[in-house]
Amino acid sequence: MDGRDLVRSVRVVGSVGAAQRLRTVKAAWRRRRADAEALPPRGPERARVPGPVREVEPGTGGGVIRFNRSELRILVAVNGAVFWGWDGAAPEPSYALLGRCPEADPRAVLEPDKDGGWRVVAERVTVVVSRHGAIEVRTPGGVTLRRDLPPRWWEPVGGGAARWMQRSEVPADARFFGLGGRASGPRLRAGTYRLWNTDPGRAFGPGDDPLYVTMPVQLVVSDAATHLVFHDTTWDGTVTLREGEEGAGSGHDRAGTSELRVEGGPLRCWVMVGTPARVLLAWASLTGAPALPPTWALGHHHARWGFGSEQEVRRIVSGYQERGLPLDAVHLDIDHLDEHQVFTVDQERFPKLPLLAEELRGDGIRLVSIVDPAVKAAEGNAVYDGGTAVDAFVRDASGQLVRGVAWPGEVVFPDFTHPRVREWWGGLYEERLTQGFSGFWHDMNEPTSFAAFGESTLPRSARHALEGRGGDHREAHNVYALGMARAAYDSLRELAPKERPFVFSRSGWAGMQRYGGTWSGDVATGWPGLRASLSLVLGLGLCGVPYSGPDVGGFDGSPSPELYLRWLQLGAYLPLFRTHASLRAGRREPWEFGADVLEHARVALVERRRLLPYFVTLAHLARRTGAPYVRPLWWNAPEDRALRDCEDAFLLGDGLLVAPVLDPGADRRAVQLPRGRWYDTVTEQVYEGPAQVLVDAPLSRIPVLARAGAVIPVRGDDGGLELEVWAPARGRSGGGLVVPDGGDGWDEPELERYVTRWKSRGKRLVVERAGEGGSSEPPYPVRVRGLGERSAQM
Ligand code: GLC
Repeated sequence: MDGRDLVRSVRVVGSVGAAQRLRTVKAAWRRRRADAEALPPRGPERARVPGPVREVEPGTGGGVIRFNRSELRILVAVNGAVFWGWDGAAPEPSYALLGRCPEADPRAVLEPDKDGGWRVVAERVTVVVSRHGAIEVRTPGGVTLRRDLPPRWWEPVGGGAARWMQRSEVPADARFFGLGGRASGPRLRAGTYRLWNTDPGRAFGPGDDPLYVTMPVQLVVSDAATHLVFHDTTWDGTVTLREGEEGAGSGHDRAGTSELRVEGGPLRCWVMVGTPARVLLAWASLTGAPALPPTWALGHHHARWGFGSEQEVRRIVSGYQERGLPLDAVHLDIDHLDEHQVFTVDQERFPKLPLLAEELRGDGIRLVSIVDPAVKAAEGNAVYDGGTAVDAFVRDASGQLVRGVAWPGEVVFPDFTHPRVREWWGGLYEERLTQGFSGFWHDMNEPTSFAAFGESTLPRSARHALEGRGGDHREAHNVYALGMARAAYDSLRELAPKERPFVFSRSGWAGMQRYGGTWSGDVATGWPGLRASLSLVLGLGLCGVPYSGPDVGGFDGSPSPELYLRWLQLGAYLPLFRTHASLRAGRREPWEFGADVLEHARVALVERRRLLPYFVTLAHLARRTGAPYVRPLWWNAPEDRALRDCEDAFLLGDGLLVAPVLDPGADRRAVQLPRGRWYDTVTEQVYEGPAQVLVDAPLSRIPVLARAGAVIPVRGDDGGLELEVWAPARGRSGGGLVVPDGGDGWDEPELERYVTRWKSRGKRLVVERAGEGGSSEPPYPVRVRGLGERSAQM
């Protein structure tokens, strides 16, 4: 047991008493024994590289290149993405794609290149394969974006999964992003990042890695182009990154490198090249469009572990209502369950849950339920009995049920990689709907099983169905939560067909956006935790998961009033805006931090509600284009290197730039502006980019800047939609997209396009709706801002 394990076990144990402590010790021993028996340590291995090319078989979209000791399949797909797989690996089966593999582009064919190599020329990318199996990805202009050296495998002499390693080079100026949710980003600096979904076992900060959502997805931004590379394997691995260095014109550039080492599974990848927007579009077309959250889920949520009773929930809700603070959802944690058992209710403390839910709904507030995958291993527990009847639970190599430890005590785990189990589990949400819940918060699904030592998850040798292929936890671990989300989402579509499901999950993998979003997990209360919150949301967005947000205020301890306020102010501009904290943490209600904080918190909450139509639009755009709501500053200008290195601000859609305060004691802050004119949305002060400017950031607000020309849908005083238009610079034009709220069902509102421009030689600003038959008057009230044009005093 290393020091960290010890700390973790002490914490887990300290929180749950002696009986639980004993269980975690026993479970850790059981886990160790199971793995020792079923997965003997690696014996001698044989290393292998592809060797020289032997023959080539061109085919639709690419073809197959046979090397002496491996075979490479290349496919250019119609969406512009390129696939290649070694040892003949094909795109399917894949948990990320789920039958979505696009057609081959018939125009792309393998053709001979120089020095005995081969190449495929596609519209946006050229892939060149050397005769020893190095693969280069080039722009149509011939600039190399990525060079994969020939891979290397290590095969156990006695048979079994082969480990492999893929080393790649990227341009010296390139920056890495992604790999799922990372606390130390969004820019991923030199270091080793593990690909194994992990509950850190305590509140985490920027130094903790890995966390709950890992994925082998890298977004690499360089001067020549942006590319996304996805290594489609669910196995445990590491990515070691090193940014390159430019030789300042000396010609001695040092390439950036990425070294991926994986414990097994196919060596196959997808690459997408273009602008960031194009790359994310291709990624969404490959792995599925992000689910559209219901509109209420774009408002403010208040959660807490330990409300403990209906009265307390009512007290919190009244606290919001009496102070006129917007509130859209309340989340009930494990303390509302009967002895922490999933799909039950503690009837003593929550005797009339459906009534409470109905009353809240009448006030426009929805109830969200936590759902943990672990099922108490006790006969008489209906979920356990039902699951046993359909043989739902994970077994070990000898056929025994795998028993772990979670909040209810000794537990078993459904195998979500089996369609029958997903269907059974999905059906259980009916009980939650009957209790009046409208949304679902999946937790502990890395999956986590408390252990006194070793890893707090299932044994690696635990067996999983893997859709009938069969395999063990080494392959199933990272997609465990993905299967759980799929089970819930698919079933909710049938159980409540008129409403869009709301599911968000602590753990997940590539493709999780199809079912919903995620949240930060137990981010540590402190200024570093605040910074980590933003890193997670930005990084996940670049991996195709646009809906996420932190525990506002941090999960543990007690934030200072200033920290709480700054967190709330940031959260108000993130897709999931949720206040949450641990059982033992201090209060998180806006009125618990003094009168000043309450007033400033009110401003943030009211502003979020005012921006709701903008969030609805961004949610629709995310679903239609894969673009995250929250985007790095370089989104539209990846060639701007100053923006590429800027991690403390973000774009919210096309119209707004949000510059949160991430340090204590600040009353102004530097902001790196992208090109163009920007207005401070409160003072209307004008700033011109590209530049670094100093903007006011009093305690009452964080700086939010609007792009000149932007058209932003907001909620007017009467609750109707209004267009907030920020004047373009004279002689310039602007515009924006609006998707009106179609309710919480499946209506597909039309995308509306607005343009703003100056007329009559700059005397009159017009705002028009652009349509096929020409332009027309906007059907909503328009409010133009920024006409006063006050220049910044710098
Ligand atoms: C985990 C979750 C946290 C939740 C707690 C109790 O720590 O991350 O959000 O409050 O479990 O269910």
